Amino acid sequence: MTTLTTQVAIIGGGPSGLLLSQLLNRAGIETVILERSTRAHVLSRIRAGILEWGTVELLQVAGVDARMQREGIPHDGCYMTDDERMVHIDFLELTGKRVMVYGQTEVTADLYAAQDAMGTTVLHEVSDVEILDLDQPRSAVEFTHEGTRKRLECLYVAGCDGFHGVSRKTIPEHKRQEFERVYPFGWLGILSETPPVNDELIYSNSRHGFALASMRNSNLVRYYVQVSLTDKVEDWSDQRFWDEFSRRIPSDAAGRLITGPSIEKSIAPLRSFVSEPLRWGNLFLVGDAAHIVPPTGAKGLNLAASDVYYLHEALIEALSGRGTAGIDAYSEKALSRIWKAMRFSWQMTLMLHRFDDEDAFAAQMRRATLDHLAHSETARRDLAENYIGLPF
Ligand code: APR
Ligand code: PHB
Repeated sequence: MTTLTTQVAIIGGGPSGLLLSQLLNRAGIETVILERSTRAHVLSRIRAGILEWGTVELLQVAGVDARMQREGIPHDGCYMTDDERMVHIDFLELTGKRVMVYGQTEVTADLYAAQDAMGTTVLHEVSDVEILDLDQPRSAVEFTHEGTRKRLECLYVAGCDGFHGVSRKTIPEHKRQEFERVYPFGWLGILSETPPVNDELIYSNSRHGFALASMRNSNLVRYYVQVSLTDKVEDWSDQRFWDEFSRRIPSDAAGRLITGPSIEKSIAPLRSFVSEPLRWGNLFLVGDAAHIVPPTGAKGLNLAASDVYYLHEALIEALSGRGTAGIDAYSEKALSRIWKAMRFSWQMTLMLHRFDDEDAFAAQMRRATLDHLAHSETARRDLAENYIGLPF
């Protein structure tokens, strides 16, 4: 068997794995990334497009911010609406911070370019990954690549392989605790080369169900509507999408809506999920491997970034002989921020969606929540503080 060695083996070449690798490499730590798919496949996935300012700053520290600074669009606020009210949440005035509109696909492409420039080994199309010897001073990852079985020896393993990866499942089941909430609807999203209907995002809780007007740039929009879990993409012609979307956004916005052909259309289910702990011996879980949030509030990538922040600092400390306090504290520290983002995403999801089996009381609670936001600066500040991202 071919044997390779590195300091940190990273499983998964999505945003978590790439960003962790980039930050470690810049600190002189060697990594190898093992990715199941082709690079083209990883870069074809369309995900959310809102970066918290802490994520923006971390990308800066990682030296991968040049294109984001040129092409990203800072947003100072967003709108929360229903059929009666349109509440502006002014992030900048309420918190002194803003967010950046820049697609996760672009962040991932920038990270691949930076890792190539760094000369990092990224092996694509690896299969049958097995993580071994996690309780030994040296651990290993065995995998199949280009038809041969290979062994990567390392000091630490970072499990950055998303919800369906092997890392989480390597932790014995009786040592893991999983928390989950599955929501009874999905989001149908489209990309269309049309100008945004509004200069800031609109999150709408209409009586016909949720809609979100987001964007990627001045001629590319990302719009969503809440759909039933049994709906298929084929059920939604572009015309049906535009009709439904326009009756769910405030009427003055609907009046300005410019429609066009969709260039991508997909349905995603909504789920909240956390697996504890994030550490098992020399293995550390990061990002979607450990937790999933519903997209309401765009916390997925941002939570992955805060995990990476905590873990890269801890690994640098351990690998430079300054002790294991950081890696020992990683799980607890990251989970404390994860749970707060879980709470926010869950609350935003409840506040903005219609549940099929709900009673009249539930709809009144949503109306009252929006009414409270409209009249209380404290409530708006609370939302803004969570939206722009809790500190890490
Ligand atoms: N071996 C190697 N790679 C794997 C394996 C495996 N067994 N299983 C999964 N992978 C790869 C996937 O192909 C994917 O490219 O791990 C990567 C995980 O990437 P993501 O799922 O994007 O997860 P993460 O990097 O944590 O990013 C978190 O991205 O997925 C979104 O909503 C999520 O916004 C959040 C952010
Ligand atoms: C997106 O632009 O895709 C997006 C924005 C905000 C969200 C979710 C998704 O809350």
